[in-house]
Amino acid sequence: MFSLENKTALITGGAGGIGAACALMFARHRIGAMTLTDLRKENLSETAAGIEKETGVKSVCIDADLRREAADAGLIAEAVKQMGRLDIVVNCAGVSRMGDLFAVTEQQWDLTFDINVKGLFFICREAFKAMEKQKSGCIINMASQAGRGGGIVVTPDYPSSKAAVLTLTKSLAKAGAPKGIRVNSVSPGLIATEMTVTYGYDPKAVPLGRIGTGEDVAGAVLFLASDYASYITGACIDVNGGIAMI
Ligand SMILES: NC(=O)c1ccc[n+]([C@@H]2O[C@H](COP(=O)([O-])OP(=O)(O)OC[C@H]3O[C@@H](n4cnc5c(N)ncnc54)[C@H](O)[C@@H]3O)[C@@H](O)[C@H]2O)c1
Repeated sequence: MFSLENKTALITGGAGGIGAACALMFARHRIGAMTLTDLRKENLSETAAGIEKETGVKSVCIDADLRREAADAGLIAEAVKQMGRLDIVVNCAGVSRMGDLFAVTEQQWDLTFDINVKGLFFICREAFKAMEKQKSGCIINMASQAGRGGGIVVTPDYPSSKAAVLTLTKSLAKAGAPKGIRVNSVSPGLIATEMTVTYGYDPKAVPLGRIGTGEDVAGAVLFLASDYASYITGACIDVNGGIAMI
């Protein structure tokens, strides 16, 4: 099994289903040091404790609201201070909600874009500053199948924000390539997490016959974070059980 023992990682949305699964996957592959950040302080501590219990890997936990703090250099600076360097960033923090177009208020639209797009952008830009000095680094952004297809049960602010993530990833990949920074995205289909608990999809509608897990997504993230993906940038891996093939 290959190891991430010389690497350090920061995961946003680290208390969420996919973020925690990515953190556990990195810990199982002996990540050198890891920082988890999320809005939900208690869930973050629980996630870190569970990972340490299973793997022995300790995580630095930083509770932060990305609506306010992503553009603040302090979050990334603290992660670099705690870990010594920053090799991998996985942007998992995000919000969505069920409803139709008339359910979207201006406040909800702004909230979705503030977290899913603006917060993600500023985390990437701050990470660039640290990675540029090292002349290496990689970023993986959580997009969504909804960002390609328009979504089914969610309000339209969500797919619009994830389409922005897909395009932003390519812009950042172009900016990062001369600096040795790779930027890719992963587009999950329906993954069983707190976010989707009320969505009620039928597993029979998925060609592979089941709803996805956080671990399914974490496998793709692990690959993109590894040196096996060293010639891959600006790409998106679909993790959707075959529900859409583009
Ligand atoms: N679950 C799915 O089916 C699915 C499908 C496609 C894409 N995604 C994307 O994957 C990512 C992870 O989703 P998940 O399923 O793990 O959801 P989740 O709700 O379990 O996790 C999201 C995490 O983001 C955190 N967060 C929300 N707002 C924040 C803020 N302002 N500041 C800091 N943290 C904040 C939440 O506290 C939560 O822990 C999201 O970007 C989501 O859009 C999920």
